[in-house]
Amino acid sequence: MTTQHLRLGVNIDHVATIRNARGGGHPDPVRAARLAAAAGADGITAHLREDRRHISDTDIDRLVNNIDLPLNLEIAATDEMLSIAVRHKPHAACIVPEKRQEVTTEGGLDAAGGIVLLRPYCTALAAAGIRVSLFIDPEARQLDAAKALGAPVVELHTGAFCEAFLEDREGPPVKAELKRLEAAAAHAAALGLECHAGHGLTYDTVGFVAAIGSVVELNIGHFLVGEAIFCGLDSAIKRMRVLMDQARADGAGARSA
Ligand code: PXP
Repeated sequence: MTTQHLRLGVNIDHVATIRNARGGGHPDPVRAARLAAAAGADGITAHLREDRRHISDTDIDRLVNNIDLPLNLEIAATDEMLSIAVRHKPHAACIVPEKRQEVTTEGGLDAAGGIVLLRPYCTALAAAGIRVSLFIDPEARQLDAAKALGAPVVELHTGAFCEAFLEDREGPPVKAELKRLEAAAAHAAALGLECHAGHGLTYDTVGFVAAIGSVVELNIGHFLVGEAIFCGLDSAIKRMRVLMDQARADGAGARSA
């Protein structure tokens, strides 16, 4: 299955990280979300972490009430996060693993090992009309578990691929990680799961993932917010969009050739 339009979800967590470095209200993640919408984002992603290190509860309130784009709320599988999600009813909730000491989301959710723990959260989110997504490593057993949990969406963790690329962009690990992503995306399609991907993507790496035809959405944050320091958020998002669209079009061309 090839989807021509590849959606871009802009993750605004690190606008809040910069704001929180000083306290106060600047820079405002809601303003960033509005700007992202104007620049061509298809959705906004925000991770309400248990330690509230970036996005706050007030940010979620304000995002829900002030943006027109679909909100993808990233949460850990906890009762507190479930009740926040059910109260706000975002378009989607992406369940992610969370460790307090980690700098960012390291590795995917162990859906295969956590079916019993995850099932009530998936069921309750779906019952509230929220589209459930599971952030998993690109492994067949994790996809099979997502299917067993009834999640309609999976988001493949692209961190290992991006890290391998940073180490040595021509090296065998990059090719191996890309193959894992391609195989996982194909497996997701075969299972009837909508496939998203994200984590660590940059201008240099986005094209490889965008070229995978069965991936329908990329969620990108840190690089865009970092790049915004140099060229502005609008321009960073537009450039990312162009690179995604080019890779998608080239990928489609290669498949039909
Ligand atoms: N998708 C998920 C599920 C994430 O947890 C994150 C990071 O919060 C991202 C995408 C975006 O990753 P990055 O900020 O590295 O672009």
